[in-house]
Amino acid sequence: MKKIIKLMALALCCAIALSFAGLFSGCGGQTQKVGILMPSAKEQRWTQDSDNLKRQLQAKGYMVEIKNAEDSADVQVSQIDAMVDDGFNVLVICAHDSTKLTQVLQKAANKGVKIIAYDRLIMNSPNVDYYVTFNNFEVGRLQGEYIETALNLKTAKAEDRSYNIELFAGAATDNNAIFFFDGAMSVLEQYLGNGVLKVPSGETERAVVAEAGWTYPLAKARMDRLLTENYADGTELHAVLSPNDGIAQVLITSFKAAGFTDMPILTGQDSEKESVKKIIADEQAMTVFKDTRALADRTFKMVEDILLGNTPETNDAKTYHNGEKIVPTYMCKPVGVTKTNYKEILIDSGYYELSDLQ
Ligand code: BGC
Repeated sequence: MKKIIKLMALALCCAIALSFAGLFSGCGGQTQKVGILMPSAKEQRWTQDSDNLKRQLQAKGYMVEIKNAEDSADVQVSQIDAMVDDGFNVLVICAHDSTKLTQVLQKAANKGVKIIAYDRLIMNSPNVDYYVTFNNFEVGRLQGEYIETALNLKTAKAEDRSYNIELFAGAATDNNAIFFFDGAMSVLEQYLGNGVLKVPSGETERAVVAEAGWTYPLAKARMDRLLTENYADGTELHAVLSPNDGIAQVLITSFKAAGFTDMPILTGQDSEKESVKKIIADEQAMTVFKDTRALADRTFKMVEDILLGNTPETNDAKTYHNGEKIVPTYMCKPVGVTKTNYKEILIDSGYYELSDLQ
């Protein structure tokens, strides 16, 4: 009889534990631990993204810790390693260098830690369970299409006139950057081919345009050099493909230092407050809005499903091959933002207050 009562008590304990969905890993009453690992703190989006996600997970009672790799692959590897040793259940990782996590993720898998690649795909590892991101090719396509429309390239004829453009591509160690560039080139390549667009520096190779990576002082130094070498004689620069807002912002500094009064058509991505202000001031032409609230929501749902033993919802099973396997992905939709639609997209949706942009 005593045994039966004990068993009933145990069952009750389990039922209570389970009813606090996600709070406990079982009758042991252990809080589930979720690690959020970000690549850098120098951009608005990574701190904003991790804070959003942490808030949602904590509200459900999970123990959440955010780590920031401070732009170092080695730092990120040791942070992951420490969290694995510390008994974390799920790690949400935005890789600083997508190619450097193979070994540490093997260790994680051996201990049963589940891995969600956040925003950037983690390459060369069979141990990436899920990927949550935006349609990164579409991000680049929106940038390319903006330039195409702004310069009227569809109807332009090379024998009448051509337009000068310079290209930046983000970091080669970030799989996203490859998609951004390919997306933009899927629109612009035809105009480089028929001579309507020209690259006066001649720097079009992916390895060269990606040289500065996401390191903003390097991107500025490259632009300074391009301006000195190719535009100091008054040659007009009509457009610059910038993969994100951080780069766009330093390029504007470079243009101003070179005495530009009118800015070239300049693209971006992330809808950072600083860049939206520059769009309003006609210094940057466009940015891409990736609603990080939607990304955080999706990630939150994935973490919960994993911890509850459910299969997380994904909407893509073909796009993101990481060199080892196609990683099941949830892809959110990016939207182009300009001076014409920023209020509707960023303010009306509650993403920013008007005062954020003053
Ligand atoms: C992200 C962008 C970000 C860039 C630089 C990319 O992987 O998708 O949103 O601007 O990294 O951090």
